[in-house]
Amino acid sequence: MANNLLKGKRGIIFGALDERSIAWKVAEVAKAEGAIFTLTNAPIAMRMGEINKLAEACDSEIIPADATSIEDLENLFSKSVEILGGKIDFVLHSIGMSPNVRKGRDYGDLNYDWLTKTLDVSAISFHKVMQTAEKLDAMNEWGSILGLSYIAAQRTFPDYSDMAHAKAMLESIARSYGERYARLKKVRVNTISQSPTMTTAGTGVGGFDVFYSYADQMSPLGNASALDCANYCAMMFSDYTKMVTMQNLMHDGGFSSSGITDRLIEQLKKD
Ligand SMILES: NC(=O)c1ccc[n+]([C@@H]2O[C@H](COP(=O)([O-])OP(=O)(O)OC[C@H]3O[C@@H](n4cnc5c(N)ncnc54)[C@H](O)[C@@H]3O)[C@@H](O)[C@H]2O)c1
Repeated sequence: MANNLLKGKRGIIFGALDERSIAWKVAEVAKAEGAIFTLTNAPIAMRMGEINKLAEACDSEIIPADATSIEDLENLFSKSVEILGGKIDFVLHSIGMSPNVRKGRDYGDLNYDWLTKTLDVSAISFHKVMQTAEKLDAMNEWGSILGLSYIAAQRTFPDYSDMAHAKAMLESIARSYGERYARLKKVRVNTISQSPTMTTAGTGVGGFDVFYSYADQMSPLGNASALDCANYCAMMFSDYTKMVTMQNLMHDGGFSSSGITDRLIEQLKKD
């Protein structure tokens, strides 16, 4: 379904860990839509080596960067501008990690150093990415920056724990930096709030299978897949969405506007 939507655009894609990753699908779609881009992930995530396959398929260079390190981000933006031959038109921030969730820490017994880490990796890094890009003047006018969020920013999903706070902060940063970047450079900043998706980060949350299936039944269109999300990202990077900024965009098959659905009623009747 490629339409050359991103022809001539240069980008940076964070967060492709393996082929289930949302960022992986975004890279494949961006390539098919005519973009050129660099790929990046935390040095520790490179050890799996999976990203090399993606880089080869997309003719992309990989530049390792811990998204919490300003030094790494400066290197990433400078090198990307150099390699791609000009300023950047789009950035995907597809990063999430909570040590409290990963280690199964109860919400009433949070480790606060880990909470700080959750916020730094999953939310503050979004600010760091934009502040670095601004200081290096690395973005083109009308560029588009996206972060990926989840509805736990607005509603409570107990097992999502401190990641809920990270997502609320991520969406808040998108609004505040979106206002600033629009004023300074006409760069737009949004978050996409995605359905539960079977990825490493997703399935790391306790009870994921149950709330994946609950969300699917509560969404009139069913859960949006990683590929659906990638197509939406491509549209948001394209010139068709030039005037969309400072938004948290629901990409969830209708979940967020549903009270109950026939499918769920049928399921509950069976129980
Ligand atoms: N999977 C879901 O159900 C779901 C739903 C809504 C939103 N999201 C969000 O989508 C985004 C991508 O997650 P995913 O589901 O594709 O899972 P994923 O595990 O494939 O991707 C998460 C990525 O974050 C990277 N990362 C972690 N720490 C980092 C650091 N310090 N510096 C740079 N990168 C780092 C990981 O290496 C990994 O590539 C996350 O923000 C996640 O919260 C996921």
